[in-house]
Amino acid sequence: MLRYLLFAFYILHFFTGINAKIEESVLISSRELSSIRDEPDFDKNYRIIEANFGPKGQDNFGKGHIPGAIYVDAAFNSTKLTLLEVSLPILEAWQSYLGSLGISNDHQLIIYDRSEYGFKQSSRLFYLIKLFGKNKVKVLNGGFNDWVRNRFDASTKIQKFSDEIYIASFNPKLLRLYENIIKNIETNAEILVDARNSSEYENGHIPGAFNVPYNEFFDSKTGLLKTKQELMKMVLNEGIDLNESIIAYCQSGIRASSLMLVLEMVGAKKVSVYNGSWFEYSQRSEDMLDKIITRLTKFFDSLFNFVLFK
Ligand SMILES: *[C@@H]1O[C@H](CO)[C@@H](O)[C@H](O)[C@H]1NC(C)=O
Ligand SMILES: *[C@@H]1O[C@H](CO)[C@@H](O)[C@H](O)[C@H]1NC(C)=O
Ligand SMILES: *[C@@H]1O[C@H](CO)[C@@H](O)[C@H](O)[C@H]1NC(C)=O
Ligand SMILES: *[C@@H]1O[C@H](CO)[C@@H](O)[C@H](O)[C@H]1NC(C)=O
Repeated sequence: MLRYLLFAFYILHFFTGINAKIEESVLISSRELSSIRDEPDFDKNYRIIEANFGPKGQDNFGKGHIPGAIYVDAAFNSTKLTLLEVSLPILEAWQSYLGSLGISNDHQLIIYDRSEYGFKQSSRLFYLIKLFGKNKVKVLNGGFNDWVRNRFDASTKIQKFSDEIYIASFNPKLLRLYENIIKNIETNAEILVDARNSSEYENGHIPGAFNVPYNEFFDSKTGLLKTKQELMKMVLNEGIDLNESIIAYCQSGIRASSLMLVLEMVGAKKVSVYNGSWFEYSQRSEDMLDKIITRLTKFFDSLFNFVLFK
């Protein structure tokens, strides 16, 4: 009986175009996820992924997660794994890791995390998936908190899918390095947007950067991402032209990934992430200033010597 009801529900969804809507957005709601889980062939077409950083995240996953989900370490192969510092994985390591978890290039990925609004580790993984592949990928709006709030069931059962072959292909359009940032400060060819909070931004930012703070993306009443209209207003109020090429950065590239998702959601076509972000920029630009000062000092010293002892 239940099967028939679910089937009817699915057909109804299909014809009311809810499925089409799911296709268009980078977001998925708890309700939508709950209903597509009942689709025939779900496991063949989808992977639900809980994203977190490191082995401690795996412990939390073991205590209860969305049924059928697998755990992916979004800081896999990173030399560091704190919220303030992560680095990108090596392509070969990343592709064999995803393959070993039963993820193929064809799976549609639905990512969630356990952060307050669900856009931290999930956004980082969203970015890595796009940087190294072409899978269709969505993030669960509100994350695990929203799933639980809606009283959908959690499971402690660990699902193991058999190995798949995952071929990673690096997309350089989505990454900017320190050298690109330095060049861009001169050319202004791309728009820089800083996702750190306003006080971090005011304490120092990359010259010319706009500020669209991550901590203002969310609606504390609903526990979800703000609506597309609200986010669009935030971005346009800053004077950001969504037709231009945009570089997102933050402290270490995590909030910037979330900013990338938001910018794409409101219609930006070309968004990349500066992976070194403020963590790298602030150190290297200081080094550069030091170098300039040292050089100038040397120059004046020799000039001084020249004049005095000629
Ligand atoms: C990352 O993966 C590469 C290639 O497998 C490996 O040589 C390297 O040691 C790994 N680094 C870390 C920090 O795990
Ligand atoms: C940023 O990416 C470049 C190129 O892959 C890499 O050399 C560098 O170590 C990365 N930095 C971080 C912090 O991930
Ligand atoms: C901004 O970020 C800094 C550093 O993470 C933190 O100490 C501060 O409380 C934050 N401020 C706001 C307004 O969120
Ligand atoms: C952005 O591009 C679209 C389509 O090409 C155009 O209709 C729109 O006016 C452009 N917006 C700006 C601010 O230039």
